[in-house]
Amino acid sequence: MRHLLTLLDLDRSEIMHLIKLSKVLKWERYEGYLRSNLRGKVVGLLFEKPSTRTRVSIEVAVRELGGSTLYMRGDELQLVRGEPIKDTARVLSRYIHCLFARVKLHETLIEFTKYSSIPIVNALSDLFHPLQALADLMTIEEHFKSFNRVGRVVFVGDGGSNVCHSLMIACVKVGIDYVVACPEEYRPCSFVLELAREEAKETGARIEIVPDPFTAVKDADVIYTDVLVSMGQEHERSTRLRAFLPKYQVNRELLRAIGHNNYVFMHCLPAMRGEEVTDEVIEDNVHSLVFKQAENRLHTTKAVLLWLVGAK
Ligand code: CP
Ligand code: NVA
Repeated sequence: MRHLLTLLDLDRSEIMHLIKLSKVLKWERYEGYLRSNLRGKVVGLLFEKPSTRTRVSIEVAVRELGGSTLYMRGDELQLVRGEPIKDTARVLSRYIHCLFARVKLHETLIEFTKYSSIPIVNALSDLFHPLQALADLMTIEEHFKSFNRVGRVVFVGDGGSNVCHSLMIACVKVGIDYVVACPEEYRPCSFVLELAREEAKETGARIEIVPDPFTAVKDADVIYTDVLVSMGQEHERSTRLRAFLPKYQVNRELLRAIGHNNYVFMHCLPAMRGEEVTDEVIEDNVHSLVFKQAENRLHTTKAVLLWLVGAK
């Protein structure tokens, strides 16, 4: 039995396998063919935070694979009244076949894995968002046809965001150099950097943290950003916006500094237009892959489900 809390839980060949499988599942769906490997299986979704893409893509993925879903709001379980995670984990393990959890604290997921006898999947925590990074890798691979053709992914904005962390691990796992352009006080967490640097030794990928976004984006293939105020950080909103804006906004002027026109723009969504990115950058049909990323969440989640619970 396996869990998926970060992409560190997968080796490179497993990631490549999941991407390949996701592409097959995407093609099958377009052709009107759906598999039924999850027949008789119930997948739980425990969400402590809001979600559009993650919740809906998981629910649709499970249903299209023949299984059923059970959505649980964190504040409607006895957890909020102090029932320990270790009890909740053992109880849920007796009812459902897999749990996708979106949690405030990553430690909650770790505690779940210690006591669950079913696979636990991170549907976003304060530290990581592996399902997003997997869909992002698929989107990059589809666009560039091979990871070998991608020199550099540049993340601009909040280096400490769950999305930046997971994308960093994803990129170095497949051998793509990763650059983070961020203010000094919003660098990636040092332990995540260390883990990613360890991974990078295997593939030779480089990780750089650069304060100036205009220097960072030069010659980039992919420009990526995420919100500047993540869920749960609303009380830091004014401090954060002061630290990031206007310098770290992805706008036309910054994109001009790339120096060529074959770049793509990516964002996990939801996007706050006028903050981390401008409307015209998201709406630029030539370069913006944001809705392809969102669609690929469905196909990659199906691949994860087949891998964790759906093997015949
Ligand atoms: N990208 C993403 O995880 O979106 P949601 O918060 O809508 O699930
Ligand atoms: N960093 C963002 C990602 C949303 C998908 C957040 O945690 O709110």
